[in-house]
Amino acid sequence: MNFSQEVFLRNLAQTTDSPYLISIERAEGIYLYGPDGKRYIDLISGIGVSNIGHRHPKVVKAIKDQVDKHLHVMVYGEYIQSPSNLLAKKLSELLPANLNCSFFVNSGTEANEGALKLAKRFTGRTEIVSCRKSYHGSTHGSMSVSGNEIKKMAFRPLLPDVRFIDFNVIEDLENITARTACVIMETIQGDAGVRIPSKKYMKAIRQRCDETGALLILDEIQCGMGRTGSLFAFQHYDIVPDILTVAKAFGGGLPIGAFISSDEKMRCLTHDPMLGHITTFGGNPVCCASALATLETIEEEKLLANVETKGKLFEKYLQHERIRGIRRIGLLFAIDFESAELVSRIVQEGKMRGVICYWFLSHPNSFRIAPPLTITPEEIKESCDLILQAIENA
Ligand SMILES: Cc1ncc(COP(=O)(O)O)c(C=O)c1O
Repeated sequence: MNFSQEVFLRNLAQTTDSPYLISIERAEGIYLYGPDGKRYIDLISGIGVSNIGHRHPKVVKAIKDQVDKHLHVMVYGEYIQSPSNLLAKKLSELLPANLNCSFFVNSGTEANEGALKLAKRFTGRTEIVSCRKSYHGSTHGSMSVSGNEIKKMAFRPLLPDVRFIDFNVIEDLENITARTACVIMETIQGDAGVRIPSKKYMKAIRQRCDETGALLILDEIQCGMGRTGSLFAFQHYDIVPDILTVAKAFGGGLPIGAFISSDEKMRCLTHDPMLGHITTFGGNPVCCASALATLETIEEEKLLANVETKGKLFEKYLQHERIRGIRRIGLLFAIDFESAELVSRIVQEGKMRGVICYWFLSHPNSFRIAPPLTITPEEIKESCDLILQAIENA
């Protein structure tokens, strides 16, 4: 073990007993580079963050330009600052009319915390409905509405009045009633191993929320920002949520999230009590500049246009008798195998060969692939060859 590994393991808090433990010195496009010059293909985009690749030049320029003007100047919501103004305006242009007002925060879990509070405050109700196997974040509120019971056990008591339903099961929607403040769900369940709901289900949940007055919160922290081939995954379903949450790829590599709703709903956070939701760093100008450049890059480089073709190319190349199944939407994949042990060996073999695939939080028999949308057909072929070698040798 070298010195930097020792420091990492001793002086940085650990989250597992077996961290991935590669050293990174720089990153560019789909590649990460170690200090020894070793190159890795980042097939998971830093877990759903680098959708337009690492250090996209337009993002880097926007960050540098903003750094030369100002960094943090005031807590969220007091001063008028051009980066947050421009970002909020851009989002309102890209989203349906009832999602015209953004509250910027620092992460995905915070975006969901804000969304849940907004729904409770706006409806005056307390019950929250969520889906089994969902993942919404690691702070207390988001964890309370996440579905993995094993991960929650040690941290109880959590939020009261949370009810769980099965994802993509229409009969279960009866559990949404006039007591329900909101339903929170991932449009595509990510960490459950890429679960894609039917159009019928999504229409039914929208209808049930309308009937009961419950707000529909769609968490697109993992599946948004072009990952599925449309800018937002709900656009595949011809429905619109009451509150949308984004983070991860939204910032193009800097930490920013948002909960987005109508200006009418958002206004209730200004009174009874005043300052109903606050944050010091939410809407940080450098992060907003980075997020705006990311959205502009997705548009200017027409990155959505080839997502489906590239997804199909992965499927074409990833043929192996040990693969039990593939679930895919756009460039988000779960590759199923017989056992968690085999998945673990494949991921390790991939690492040795310079291709990064990774586990899911709540589905051990699969690994994920979610490459930068900028990946080229040649890079897809090279990545799949390496994965097949890893599978063969695992
Ligand atoms: C669907 C979903 N929601 C929320 C989160 C939490 O985001 P963060 O880690 O930025 O708090 C994640 C993170 O993986 C996620 O996948």
